[in-house]
Amino acid sequence: MSIKIREIDNYFFIKAELLPVGVAVPCDIFIHEDGELKLILKKGEHFSLHVKNILKEKIITNVYVNNTEKKFFQDFILEFKPKEYFDSMLDRYTINNESYYKIEKECLDPEIPVNFPLYIHDGKSFNLLLDASKENSRNISQDKLTDGDILISKKDLNLYNEYLQNLIKKSRSEPKILKETTKLILREIYSEPTNRKNLIILGDKIDEIINYGTLESKVLKEILIMKKLDNYNYIHSLNVMALSLFLGLKIKLDKEDLRLLGLASALHDIGITKISPLILSKLGKLNEKEFHIYKTHVIESVKIAEKLGLPDKVIKGIAHHHEKLNGTGYPSKLKREEISFFGKIIAIADAYEMLTTPKPMKYALTPYNALMILVHDKGCYDKALLETFIKILGRVI
Ligand SMILES: [Fe+2]
Repeated sequence: MSIKIREIDNYFFIKAELLPVGVAVPCDIFIHEDGELKLILKKGEHFSLHVKNILKEKIITNVYVNNTEKKFFQDFILEFKPKEYFDSMLDRYTINNESYYKIEKECLDPEIPVNFPLYIHDGKSFNLLLDASKENSRNISQDKLTDGDILISKKDLNLYNEYLQNLIKKSRSEPKILKETTKLILREIYSEPTNRKNLIILGDKIDEIINYGTLESKVLKEILIMKKLDNYNYIHSLNVMALSLFLGLKIKLDKEDLRLLGLASALHDIGITKISPLILSKLGKLNEKEFHIYKTHVIESVKIAEKLGLPDKVIKGIAHHHEKLNGTGYPSKLKREEISFFGKIIAIADAYEMLTTPKPMKYALTPYNALMILVHDKGCYDKALLETFIKILGRVI
């Protein structure tokens, strides 16, 4: 079950079954009935089994909360349902005890038949969109892919991968397919960080991107994913990987180094999975204690990388991605040549990606303004690398 929140005028709704039974609610809760919102629980009242049953009898699946209470309510749900929160960060849904993954609409080709069922989820309902199977493969027309997320069952992921391979054969390795296949494997890695099999597949994907081997700005543009407000860490990592690889290609790193840089940049934040969702999703600034906990994601990432037996260059790249040339970074306050080369590259890509990502209560900066901030902070970043980075981005934006 996703706890993705959809806004309707001044209210947003979530699935009623996410409300923890027997717990006092932190704000007024409404239901939508007969065309209007009706108060069902006042702030401080307990969500009892009795109320739950009333909702069930009325076949009411969503409850509404005023937008002004969003922060309190989100924290409240996260406290009781952290797993669902991580699911939403990974574009993953659990519906009727089964896992579903969101896929990209643009990777569904109306001319290539699909041999697995497609579902549509629009925040309110979940429905079968295309009843296809191995025995009965069917084509999907683009006009059916209307508003809502397109989902597939987790057990059909292999069939979807095969479908993407067919697409590659038909139309050669287009960046959008490369992006989708890389996204799929990064999602697996962020779900199961210590599975080595996934790491091998990621290495192959990085090779594909390198072999695509072009610095055409349209490729970079296609691979970068525009993010929504939700901070999907695996998508942040995919973008940081793309930006780092383009910088690596531009400065003509050899293939082996590019591969290692791809791994380090893809996995730089893998330890974030150990940080409390309450901190990751906090609206507004973290306090000192919370920031201290947030910063431990670097150490956690290094621990996972070591467990995976990754090469020293990769581990150093991960360990140094928040270090700054002037010694103001973390966790070790390293300076200039103490910071690894990969660490310097990832730091620029990571900072740029974070600045251009929308955050709760904060607009994303335009690429131009984000680059201006990096230039302003130039004491923090390697001068030559930053100049090259600006040249690359200058052709994209
Ligand atoms: Fe980080």
